[in-house]
Amino acid sequence: MSESNRPKWSGSLGFVLAAAGSAVGLGNIWKFPYITGMNGGGAFVLVYLACIALVGVPVLLAELYIGKVGQANAVLAYEKVHKEKSFWRLPGALGLISAFLILSFYSVIGGWILNFEWCSLLNEFGTRPEGEIKSMLSDLFEDPTRQIFLHSIFMLLTVGIVLGGVQKGIEKWTKLLMPGLVLILIGLLVYSLFLPGFGQAAEFLFLPDFSKLSWEGLLEAVGHSFFTLSVAVGVMVTFGSYLSKDDNLPRMGFSIAIIDTVLALTAGLVIFTAVFSYGIEVDTGPTLIFQTLPLLFGKMPGGYFIAVTFFLLIASTALTSTISILEVVVAYCTETFKAPRRITTLIVGFAAFAVGLLSDLSTNLLSHVKIVGLNFFDFFDKLTSSLFLPLSGLLTSVFLGWVLGPRAVDEIIRDTGFEAYRKTLLICIRVIVPISVSIILIMGLDWLWPA
Ligand code: PFF
Repeated sequence: MSESNRPKWSGSLGFVLAAAGSAVGLGNIWKFPYITGMNGGGAFVLVYLACIALVGVPVLLAELYIGKVGQANAVLAYEKVHKEKSFWRLPGALGLISAFLILSFYSVIGGWILNFEWCSLLNEFGTRPEGEIKSMLSDLFEDPTRQIFLHSIFMLLTVGIVLGGVQKGIEKWTKLLMPGLVLILIGLLVYSLFLPGFGQAAEFLFLPDFSKLSWEGLLEAVGHSFFTLSVAVGVMVTFGSYLSKDDNLPRMGFSIAIIDTVLALTAGLVIFTAVFSYGIEVDTGPTLIFQTLPLLFGKMPGGYFIAVTFFLLIASTALTSTISILEVVVAYCTETFKAPRRITTLIVGFAAFAVGLLSDLSTNLLSHVKIVGLNFFDFFDKLTSSLFLPLSGLLTSVFLGWVLGPRAVDEIIRDTGFEAYRKTLLICIRVIVPISVSIILIMGLDWLWPA
């Protein structure tokens, strides 16, 4: 596709909302609260904020820059910036594979959320006995037909939006969904203010107790800073390639990171307020929003509406993320195979759905199939989050910081009003990101050799 007929954002707002829509997702409303709960609260939050600032944002800016200068898909952009066919396509290729795999299992979780939205609408949390509410997730896991049906609906929604294209699909829908989900979150926050556990939740999240911080928590915070900002998966390169030459990268990058972080903290506050108000353990882990919260919704005044809006919120955030992931692969295939965009969207969507079936079945019919001791779902998750994402992020930082060198950092910063940030960005991209990500890469590989 020639540069002149590549899609373009209608303006900076459209871009920032679409990129923030990608960043804000299950990582903010599901994963951030539960890993914070498991890692003791405030001290982990501080480390997480530091990781966003020193690791996530620099890689985010590097990717936007590579996309904007390369004006091509997530793989080709690296090559075009380097001006020769090279090894440096590797971070883009790793990102592309990760995007496809993440899309396959993220849309499965999208299906679980539709299930809980449906149960909320039927008021099942308010009417069913506690034991049944607790086992709703495991019941779903044991029912492949239901899981596949809901998964397919979620994928159809994703494909339907991406079929519309960049401006009329992704941009139009994120402009609608993002303000909607911010409003829902504000509504839930206001409700939380009236619950007795609000003060305790704020203390848990914002008063650091360093004795609770562990080495694993530190590693988790670095890894999560990539996932939550949607970096190292080609999204920001692809979205950056739809920007114009004079767009202000630091301003856009900071806006995305701030929106993502504020929404994660707000979601944490809402969820922990509910948890503390009803005397539940904070460290229940991944089942926090699928078991603990539904139990609480059943007991809260107005719990019916809270449950319906809460799961609607998560479904919307998941959808604005899956559309961005699908776009990465669609942009790559359209440009590489010179294929019509609509047909490519349908084929890629279907292929990701087909691979996702392995995740649907990994809790039932295929639960006995293990790769390095993990079922398909856990394997795809681990492979991307512990290997491909860190490796792609690490290579991108080395590419920008050492191969392209300080000139690239100058170009990111020049005439943007953020000149004072130049030195910090250079240090982060050349030293802090490579060292910290290499450590998590090495430390995080033990799963490949199960005992
Ligand atoms: N950033 C999303 C979240 O926090 O849920 C996850 C995500 C979206 C990862 C898009 C990767 C991606 F390409």
